[in-house]
Amino acid sequence: MKIGRNDPCWCGSGKKYKSCHLAFDDKLESLKNRGMVIPTRKMIKTPEQIEGIREASKVNTDVLDFITPFVVEGVSTGELDRRIYEYTKSIDAIPACLGYMGYPKSVCISINDVVCHGIPSDDTILKDGDIVNIDCTTKYKGYYGDSSRMFMIGDVDPVWQKLVTDTKQALDIGVEVCKEPWVTIGDIGYAINTFATKQGYQVVREIGGHGVGLEIHEDPYVSHVGRPGTDCVLAPGMVFTIEPMINLGTHEVYQDADDGWTIYTDDGQPSAQWEYTLVMTDHGVEILAH
Ligand code: MF3
Ligand code: CO
Ligand code: CO
Repeated sequence: MKIGRNDPCWCGSGKKYKSCHLAFDDKLESLKNRGMVIPTRKMIKTPEQIEGIREASKVNTDVLDFITPFVVEGVSTGELDRRIYEYTKSIDAIPACLGYMGYPKSVCISINDVVCHGIPSDDTILKDGDIVNIDCTTKYKGYYGDSSRMFMIGDVDPVWQKLVTDTKQALDIGVEVCKEPWVTIGDIGYAINTFATKQGYQVVREIGGHGVGLEIHEDPYVSHVGRPGTDCVLAPGMVFTIEPMINLGTHEVYQDADDGWTIYTDDGQPSAQWEYTLVMTDHGVEILAH
């Protein structure tokens, strides 16, 4: 269906098509003709939606800042979860993981060989030497922000410390790839996987980043392994996460058969993860939640 140049733009901005997304659509059309995978219109957020996601992402970042001083040896992950629940509610926001596809808690807390989706519990106590990921998604005024960070408890094995800092670097390398629009998701995955394997690590394949903003998980899937120039083009207006899970040993993982959530490394070696929510703009990516 062709929109007239003077018709309202499909994005909902209220502007005429010719002065809004016409040049954008032409650009995507030419990329598509060159064989590239292009985003659907649903993946392109309006300025108003981006503002909402920016606010939700600030709140999500604030929640992670809030919990940071409590992440110490001897605390249970159940207590951290309760604190996050209470704090999020107190600032008129919603812990988005709670009840998402039946997930039982407000946040994911993943320790050592838990790759992601660790379920907080009063029986899980942080101990000296642990590496811990806290992954938080917050809904605020109808929009979502999603980010995660690593914490090191006490005296951590230097090899594990390096895994944590290198995984942060892998995320930053992914961000650096997005310094201009029209790069592809394959470019991100290639850069991250190349860096990680050079350090002797392996990158998790089954779980990755995703579109985010109007829902907790949206298309596209953001793989952290990939080939340059392949997979979906990143156009201005797209909001997505990069959240590499990097393993000291094998990339193979399995899901806990009893709780249906917790993901472990196959070989019991540790895994680290960091996550940002990002928006692609005309001038490259901007970090919204961290
Ligand atoms: N925050 C997670 C992510 O980065 C979402 C976890 S979904 C849950 O995508 F249900 F496990 F909480
Ligand atoms: Co997350
Ligand atoms: Co995410």
